[in-house]
Amino acid sequence: MTTATPTHISRLRCIHCGHIADRADQDFRCPNCHDLFEVFFPGWQTPQGVRAHGHTAAELKSLWIERRARLEPENTSGVWRFRELLPALNEGHYPITLREGNTPLYDLPRCAQIAGVEDLQAKHQGMNPTASFKDTGMTTAASFARQEGFRWVACASTGNTSASMAAYAARGGMRSLVLIPEGKISWGKLSQALDYGAVTCQLRTDFDGCMRILNEVVRRMPVYLLNSVNPYRLEGQKTAAIELLEQLNWEPPDHLIVPGGNLGNSSALGKALLEMKNLGLISRLPKLSVIQAAGANPFYRSFHQHQGRELVPMQADTLATAIRIGNPASWKKALKVVQATEGTVEQVSEVEIALAKAEIGFDGVGCEPASAVTLAGLKKLVHSGFVKRNESVVLILTGHVLKDPEFTLKFHRGDLFTGTAHEKEASILAQQQRAPLVLDATVDAVVQTLKQLDS
Ligand code: F0G
Repeated sequence: MTTATPTHISRLRCIHCGHIADRADQDFRCPNCHDLFEVFFPGWQTPQGVRAHGHTAAELKSLWIERRARLEPENTSGVWRFRELLPALNEGHYPITLREGNTPLYDLPRCAQIAGVEDLQAKHQGMNPTASFKDTGMTTAASFARQEGFRWVACASTGNTSASMAAYAARGGMRSLVLIPEGKISWGKLSQALDYGAVTCQLRTDFDGCMRILNEVVRRMPVYLLNSVNPYRLEGQKTAAIELLEQLNWEPPDHLIVPGGNLGNSSALGKALLEMKNLGLISRLPKLSVIQAAGANPFYRSFHQHQGRELVPMQADTLATAIRIGNPASWKKALKVVQATEGTVEQVSEVEIALAKAEIGFDGVGCEPASAVTLAGLKKLVHSGFVKRNESVVLILTGHVLKDPEFTLKFHRGDLFTGTAHEKEASILAQQQRAPLVLDATVDAVVQTLKQLDS
């Protein structure tokens, strides 16, 4: 007699050769072909159909809603509330949580008008505890690091991963090692890592160089890798899409638009969409499209020049430092979900990013530059006809506006592009700029200014 796989079991499967494992080596690469692992749940296949933890779609939906009235950490976390779709920790182990997830979905009426669509919303993942989407993946992966008994965790980062990892390591009683490119991450993010007690190394290289070095370090030292090659990160990041669909009463939008850097996030959100469809939680798939900065566009090039057959690494450069990445680790996973959902890949210029960021700000929402590629990309997708006027669109905003105040200040003072090749194109930004006014300390000066602006 064969016994069915217990419903909560998750395993790792190589995305290239299909090799199955229950534990990965420290670099999270397949020992046979060196490609990445993904988590899968063999127990979901039951004689009654596809069930997560034995639950039907309707049962899952009501279970998750009921948990919103509960007070325990595993229910107030907007990630662990969806734990039937996550790998389970062993008996006696608890999540490291800062009550991540639970992020708002905002409508963007002004941006909708600008982009030329009727229904535009933004899921703001910058409203997480360390102000970026990384927290949703860090709660899961850091919890697995602690369960495995690691004292040290580590990541290479353009800033947000390091801020998030440092916080979760501190909460979980682990030490953290951060490798960041010197001079190429925002001060807000760097200061977070320091405050949460990380050992922070600024390396004289770019993100891709930091990643190469860290891959060697984890082979030599007992440190747990918390970059998004770690499949447990992506499992947590999946929940943003689940929470989004719950907020939309399980009615999928026509389009989901995501910034692309190392391509872990788009892979995670796409995995969630496919799993939700498979489980019957949604009846159709939104088209998932990825937007890159034109100066850091290896995935855009791969998609359009090589039909996704190969990815040629490049030297990346963009003021949206979060996505300044030339050799994205998860490009094959992202390609799979873009293709499976019939989405596309677009690129946007530096000036387009800066303009879109200001426009999101004027809707009272705000975000960091890397998140603004979504609106900039949407405008292009509407223009090309890929997104129709009457289709519903959700942008994933990945980081908070306060992550990179230097970018915002330079933008409003008008010197973001001074002395760069984009200076001429940037003249279109003048209308959006609101530099602080320096006035005499008199009532008259302020009243006079108001009168001028009101006329
Ligand atoms: N948006 C923000 C604000 C980010 O910090 C990142 C990635 C992305 C988008 C792109 O997401 O890499 O999953 O495609 N930041 C990483 C970091 C690389 O180290 O903080 P991705």
